[in-house]
Amino acid sequence: MLKKISVRTLRKYKENHERFSMLTAYDYSTAKYFDEAGIDVILVGDSLAMVALGYDNTNNLGINEMAVFTKAVARGAKRAMVVTDMPFMSYTIDIPSALTNIGNMIKLGSRAVKLEGCNNYILELIKRCVNMGVPVMGHIGFTPQSENVIGGHYIQGKTEDRAQELLQEAKKLETAGVFSIVLEMVPEQVAKNITENISVPTISCGAGRFCDGFVMVCDDLLGKYDAFTPKFARKYGDIKSLITNCATNYIEDIKNGIYPNENEVY
Ligand code: KIV
Repeated sequence: MLKKISVRTLRKYKENHERFSMLTAYDYSTAKYFDEAGIDVILVGDSLAMVALGYDNTNNLGINEMAVFTKAVARGAKRAMVVTDMPFMSYTIDIPSALTNIGNMIKLGSRAVKLEGCNNYILELIKRCVNMGVPVMGHIGFTPQSENVIGGHYIQGKTEDRAQELLQEAKKLETAGVFSIVLEMVPEQVAKNITENISVPTISCGAGRFCDGFVMVCDDLLGKYDAFTPKFARKYGDIKSLITNCATNYIEDIKNGIYPNENEVY
């Protein structure tokens, strides 16, 4: 039987200094192919607001929309751990409504959730989730859902004070019970220090080379989304050109009477 990636597997990876991989996915077939390729964690990221739904930022995404994408990805992933990124305001109003929304994502097939931030409310919510049987992935550094409070996309932890604050936040998340922590847009030495001083795996999202795991938005990896690409993303393909070329050739073949041909009719 296929051995599923679990919180235990990720902990073992860290103990054995084995790096692990995480990608976002938003649909069934992409999740299936990533899973077959051997990806460890698939995040149904709220980045889907921009790259799959065309919104301006992540805060436009609602929990009902996230439910559809979570179901699709969960059906495609057999081995990878599927984590749902809880959308803006779906977990910050109060604990009961947060637990209901989080529980529903698990019922739809997700095996964990990701929550941004580290205030007392979030720490309490993490404890309640873990007690309820839901593993939580933390997310600190640049937290896109707070972009309007931060004042834009800024690297976090550039001053000594902020670097210390991030380390303390990571320790608080660890104590609250997270199974891993995404560090977004953090200088690599700050991320390295955090990684060396906590027992749960860290995941680099623009946080350099010394974390335990690494994540990228699938549309950046595949070369599909062209509105913006962060510095830390590496393009491994050019799906945008592939899609455009396929569509152009199809349109031409129709105009020229080449499609359908005699083998493509009943
Ligand atoms: O929504 C997202 O894609 C994320 C990242 C960690 C990649 O939160």
